[in-house]
Amino acid sequence: MCGIVGYIGQQPAPPIILEGLQKLEYRGYDSAGICTIDGGQAHIRRSKGKLVNLARLLAAVPMQGSVAIGHTRWATHGKPTETNAHPHKAGPVVLVHNGIIENYLTLKKDLHCNNHNFKSDTDTEVIAHLIEHEMVRGSGFEEAVRAALQELKGAYAVCLVSETEPGMMIAAKHGSPLVVGLGDREFMVASDIPPILPHTREMVFLEDDEMVVFKDGSARFSTVSGDSLTKIARHIDWSPLLAEKDGYRHFMLKEIFEQPRTVQDTLAGRLLEDEEDVCLEDLGLNDSELAQVRRICIVACGTSWHSGLVGKYLLEEHCRLPVEVDIASEFRYRNPVIGPETLLIAISQSGETADTLAAVREATIRGARTISICNVIDSSIARETEGVIYTHAGPEIGVASTKAFVTQLVALYLLMLRLGRVGGSITLERMLPHFATLLHLPALMERALRLDSAAESIARRYQHAGDFLYLGRGINYPIALEGALKMKELSYIHAEGYPAGEMKHGPIALIDENLPVVVLALKDRHYQKVISNMEEVIARGGRVIAICTEGDNEVALKAESVMYLPECSEWIAPILLSIPLQLLAYHMSSIKGNDVDQPRNLAKSVTVE
Ligand code: AGP
Repeated sequence: MCGIVGYIGQQPAPPIILEGLQKLEYRGYDSAGICTIDGGQAHIRRSKGKLVNLARLLAAVPMQGSVAIGHTRWATHGKPTETNAHPHKAGPVVLVHNGIIENYLTLKKDLHCNNHNFKSDTDTEVIAHLIEHEMVRGSGFEEAVRAALQELKGAYAVCLVSETEPGMMIAAKHGSPLVVGLGDREFMVASDIPPILPHTREMVFLEDDEMVVFKDGSARFSTVSGDSLTKIARHIDWSPLLAEKDGYRHFMLKEIFEQPRTVQDTLAGRLLEDEEDVCLEDLGLNDSELAQVRRICIVACGTSWHSGLVGKYLLEEHCRLPVEVDIASEFRYRNPVIGPETLLIAISQSGETADTLAAVREATIRGARTISICNVIDSSIARETEGVIYTHAGPEIGVASTKAFVTQLVALYLLMLRLGRVGGSITLERMLPHFATLLHLPALMERALRLDSAAESIARRYQHAGDFLYLGRGINYPIALEGALKMKELSYIHAEGYPAGEMKHGPIALIDENLPVVVLALKDRHYQKVISNMEEVIARGGRVIAICTEGDNEVALKAESVMYLPECSEWIAPILLSIPLQLLAYHMSSIKGNDVDQPRNLAKSVTVE
């Protein structure tokens, strides 16, 4: 996620902005920039890479001014380059932005027709031109901002200045966070609390469609449409470290709770309801190229491999194409039989996993078409495949992947819809129900997150277990694998995921009163079979932790511990099931006093073999 910092007051602004951006570095970024208003002119410095590069620019040519805005960019639209770095300027208007503007292409086209020329590939620059356009038509700066923001669709948090109003700074938000710090005739704006803490602990958290205008030592709050507001400041007594985690104890827990928002961000602008189609802007392959695909090969590692396994069920069921899923380190050495009719899908949060990158190169040599699902813009795997579906999960700080995993599943669902439309296996009348399923998903995830305390008490109950077994069937079998991986990589307790139907072929020998068995028993096409597997476990003294559908009292009578999930489509059940399993593993790790965000021996991205 991008980071915004703004300052207006009596102190020199550039050092305050730079320090503020440094306190947002944990959010991850790939470029940065700053703008000051000095002598009625906007002065802008931007640099690719880390803040040290921006600091060097400021040291070489110092900036003056007591009004400034700054930004760290996590690229979503447009590569991480100096040109795409914020702030962006159009006429006298300069702004920084965090969020995704869904209708930016439409707005850009209209502005082009009004002789606006763009320097960057970003959605943000469109906002600057929109405001300038309003000012050219006679509006003042504040009025132009109000008019422009009301034309935007999607998420934004913006901080703006203008050469026409050197003593003014404006901030507004819809969908992305923005915090206002209230000092003595000086004010700060930031995407998060840390940059503001050293200056003031009196803060206002803007709500959606609210705006604040700073001028002449005062802060005037209103709705974007112009109704004035009275906002009460909160006193924030967090430590800086706690503030980086937004009050959560660990980044992993923060990221688990961010998942509904990341799913919304990954869906943003991609469900074209009027066209009843899916827009995958960077897919790279056109409809006729997609129509030539006869088989699919998914390659990935770890948790990303588990998302690939879920993808197999989605793609085979709905696109009627054969799908094989390979662990990348195996694929690259097994002399795979693939060619031009094969679509290789590489899934990687980091986009830098060595084995997955090698698998992409192997497939390319053999003439396969290649796309990737990545969370990092312009990463190696994203660059070396013909096309990419970016997950918009934002930087994932916790080594154990959570939000990246669920957004990979959303990306696979979107790809399934796109391929199904091209191949004709998904009819038009089926598209809108799928859209409804996806649009309702974040709300169901919010309900699943209410299992946090249940998961914690279950973790306490089984904290002395030496092993765990996770059982699932069908599209939820890969989630049994993922739940087991979360448990072992976070709590260091051995855990194994298995297809529930495999019990009789070996694992049943493990069952005794010391073995907790997590059973994924949602009301779906496999429910009865899973219940019989569960009964086989209970009959041998196994201790069942069941995850089932709200209202299913039958399971509650049999299992030792239960967590309930809301009823949902089977195609998004893997996403919902992931949440209690993530929470269970998180709490087990925390109870054991492990380093939750950086478990022993693990790296966030395995860039070597
Ligand atoms: C996930 O919890 C693990 N940390 C690990 O398995 C990870 O999924 C794997 O290393 C793949 O990483 P990638 O998605 O960045 O390629």
